[in-house]
Amino acid sequence: MKTIKNICCIGAGYVGGPTMSVIASKCPEITVNVVDINQARIDLWNHEDLDKLPVYEPGLKEVVGEARGKNLFFSTDVDSAIDEADMIFISVNTPTKTYGKGKGQAADLKYIELCARNIAKVAVDDKIVVEKSTLPVRTAQTLKSILHNTGNGVKFEILSNPEFLAEGTAIEDLLDADRILIGGDETPSGQEAKNALSSVYEHWLPKERILQTNVWSSELSKLVANAFLAQRVSSINSISALCEKTDANVAEVSRAIGYDSRIGSRFLNSSVGFGGSCFQKDILNLVYIAKSFGLQEVADYWEQVIIMNDYQKRRFADNIISTLYNTVSGKKIAFYGWAFKKDTNDTRESAAIYVADALLEENAHIVVYDPKVSKETIYSDLEYLGNKSREEIENLVTVLNDPMETAKDAHAIAVLTEWDEFKEYDWQKIYDIMLKPAFVFDGRRILDPAKMNGIGFKFYKIGQTND
Ligand code: NAI
Repeated sequence: MKTIKNICCIGAGYVGGPTMSVIASKCPEITVNVVDINQARIDLWNHEDLDKLPVYEPGLKEVVGEARGKNLFFSTDVDSAIDEADMIFISVNTPTKTYGKGKGQAADLKYIELCARNIAKVAVDDKIVVEKSTLPVRTAQTLKSILHNTGNGVKFEILSNPEFLAEGTAIEDLLDADRILIGGDETPSGQEAKNALSSVYEHWLPKERILQTNVWSSELSKLVANAFLAQRVSSINSISALCEKTDANVAEVSRAIGYDSRIGSRFLNSSVGFGGSCFQKDILNLVYIAKSFGLQEVADYWEQVIIMNDYQKRRFADNIISTLYNTVSGKKIAFYGWAFKKDTNDTRESAAIYVADALLEENAHIVVYDPKVSKETIYSDLEYLGNKSREEIENLVTVLNDPMETAKDAHAIAVLTEWDEFKEYDWQKIYDIMLKPAFVFDGRRILDPAKMNGIGFKFYKIGQTND
């Protein structure tokens, strides 16, 4: 069997960075080079202060600290890393297309294609190329066609090895993955490549958790896994709206249905809506693929998951506006949290962005506190939507790093991320410094209604009436 001695990973983002750090720490005899075209990002990965790493994940700095400089290296020298590697992971971003055919739904594969062309240009000996990025089913075909036409006799095996880590628990998920999926050709050389990749993971995971499939099943399974997870969130969120009308409590409904072992209890928490870079983009991609094969009903079925998620974010913002006497113009609304979930600094597709945008439309003054997200990120998230100029955003949105200052003289607080620290705050003190009546809108269901009502707040918790 082929033994892997040198790995290159193209893309030092939320997946490439943590995944390769874990591989390096568990496989000390393999040299791992993580490369990226973004010099600023690489500089942060190399920063001597491990608190400055570009990705915040519990446990990440310890893993990086252990392996960096020994067998884990971060650099912008993409060509050398490709040249030295036996195995190349492609872990670049695959956002939704914002132009041309498939705009708004299909995956934009330009970064993937650039990587493939780069590999084709540089490689002089045989390589195993691993799709780590989430890709539409049959992308491996495109990679093959680019790589196999170099004319220099180099042989490439293409594998699909989608990543299932969740941000916020990435290190835990990588160290104790439910399963590793490896798709590849069912030829002898395809099998050899799958086994070579499997042997990397076998350094720390039991063999039974490593599943081998054909390449198309592997590519499609990643999209389907995300679609199923997001579908559960949208399903319970749709019920949260009904709970609010019927005096049912969504937590009690979740618990009651989750005890059914066929349903299971995980991923049944109602919230202001899912975010993150993957769920929406991957479902849209699935919708696009279904449509392109003429499966309109299949496409419509999955698109509804996104429609429900948009509804939930809008419903939360509309509720703030109507509760605040139908106007938020000039009112100070404090946001607790901006990241799309706790324990990450990632804000892509965060519900907070869309709730803020709806309130800004009504001329609210928003003041944001998030323990891990920078002012610049918040401003660029809003600017990216294209509904307000940078100047308007800076006039209407203030970002502070003190939660008390954020709440001072606010008409309302909206909890948009479930950071643990929010539960520990002295809410009496917060009440005292807010304008009265003091409203709190809990979009993450982390605060206790009895306590909040007892203090005197006008308290709204998504998925239940105030009791
Ligand atoms: P990211 O945007 O954080 O990182 C991608 C990196 O690739 C960027 O730093 C970018 O500069 C770099 N890059 C782009 N083109 C390049 C090129 N030609 N050469 C060198 N570097 C290049 O993206 P993230 O979140 O790490 O996602 C990567 C892939 O993994 C996506 O396909 C995503 O769908 C998938 N994924 C993401 C998960 C997540 O939780 N973020 C979980 C599972 C899969």
